[in-house]
Amino acid sequence: MNKSYHITTFGCQMNEHDSEVIAGMLSELGYEESKERKDAGIVIINTCSVRENADKRFFGTLGQLKRRKEEGDDFLMCVCGCMMQQQHIIDTIKQKYPWVDIIFGTHNIHEFPKLVENVIAEKKKITDVWEDGGEIIEGLPSKRLYKHKSYVNIMYGCNNFCTYCIVPYTRGRERSRKPEEIVREIEALSADGVKEVMLLGQNVNSYKGEHEDGSGIADFTDLIYMVSEIEGIERIRFMTSHPKDLSDKLIEAFKNCSKLCKSLHLPVQAGSSDVLKRMNRKYTKEEYLALVEKLRAAVPEISLTTDIIVGFPGETEEDFAETIDLCRKVKYDSAFTFLYSIRKGTPAEKYEDQIPEEIKHRRFNELVEVINAGSAEKNAAYVGRTERVLVEGVSKREQAGKIEKPQPGLINLSGRTDTFKLVNFAGTKDMIGNFADVEITSSNTFSLVGRIKK
Ligand code: 5AD
Ligand code: SF4
Repeated sequence: MNKSYHITTFGCQMNEHDSEVIAGMLSELGYEESKERKDAGIVIINTCSVRENADKRFFGTLGQLKRRKEEGDDFLMCVCGCMMQQQHIIDTIKQKYPWVDIIFGTHNIHEFPKLVENVIAEKKKITDVWEDGGEIIEGLPSKRLYKHKSYVNIMYGCNNFCTYCIVPYTRGRERSRKPEEIVREIEALSADGVKEVMLLGQNVNSYKGEHEDGSGIADFTDLIYMVSEIEGIERIRFMTSHPKDLSDKLIEAFKNCSKLCKSLHLPVQAGSSDVLKRMNRKYTKEEYLALVEKLRAAVPEISLTTDIIVGFPGETEEDFAETIDLCRKVKYDSAFTFLYSIRKGTPAEKYEDQIPEEIKHRRFNELVEVINAGSAEKNAAYVGRTERVLVEGVSKREQAGKIEKPQPGLINLSGRTDTFKLVNFAGTKDMIGNFADVEITSSNTFSLVGRIKK
């Protein structure tokens, strides 16, 4: 078996970060990343179970690897992530994909190197999935996707039990890291060239970290101020926020803390108060709209994004019209829109009045149009402005061959504004990882186009 690995990651930023940690641990064991899955000695699939199509994509990917095993290729097949926290998934894998070597879950990622050693030494298969998260494990290595920005987990799990959502069952109860541990991690990241951190949690607004010296508890805003003291860190972002827990203290921080980026992901999920109640979201449409108004009054330039589910069980045409109305009123900078999908073991699985697929699709398309019109309008307002952009790398559109190379000596770059807008512009390679002032010359629904300000 060769000493290389390949990781396929499905799902959210949490999963992406878990994959970075897995990569970090394998690097410490002397494994190198393989660009191609077919060449790797260790193949890992990190799964997501938040919606049904993520399940399907996982089994599709796993199916493709069967042939490699059948042909006698010597590689370790490992599967992990949220799907593995469900017994019925483990049963299916054992029954239909018995050639999988290691099955592990979301709570014992740190044990992965040990599992690999055991499987290699003893030539056997291992399933090791923990029901709950024990103590938070600190000090794990991580191999970052980007040099200049990094994810940082501040807490794990979720206590909210929205009735459609599987996450509380796959990621366990809420646990917050100590603020000093988080600060030490970010100081080390800063020393390694990181300028922007994305603080991660399912509901960061309910972060409660115990101070190491026993002096009490830091809430999320306290943590932001602590992180903002770290030299070299120039931008702080976070996700995800639950509207019910967004505090006035945090809104103040958007005004007072210049490093805190003016963008907020605030999932609304639905516009009808009735649907919100059955989703167990604990706010009404009116309360959500009032919160948005308060935010915009305090921080007018803030960009707002959201998640919306269409076709939740029992969603009537009137309910859906409330979602459309809310989106027209809020005018999001962008939104992730999802078709409701039944998740085994959640309360909504048992709800009557599941919505037929064709109705879900029709509502979905209507919603996307409204959302896109809002995004285009928001983006158009940037034209003519000069934005400070953190340059991320070569534009994906050039990588995909969708735009031509610019004039000799320049390359197509992309980066993000403080408000998380994607900006494409021509520049030089040495700009990657640094800030640049970019004049916005035109806008699209999903991105901006600009030129370097001389
Ligand atoms: N069906 C559709 N979308 C879902 N989400 C969570 N569970 C489901 C489900 N069962 C969406 C929510 C959440 C996002 C991460 O995924 O909008 O905010
Ligand atoms: Fe799922 Fe709700 Fe928790 Fe978000 S807050 S992870 S939607 S249960």
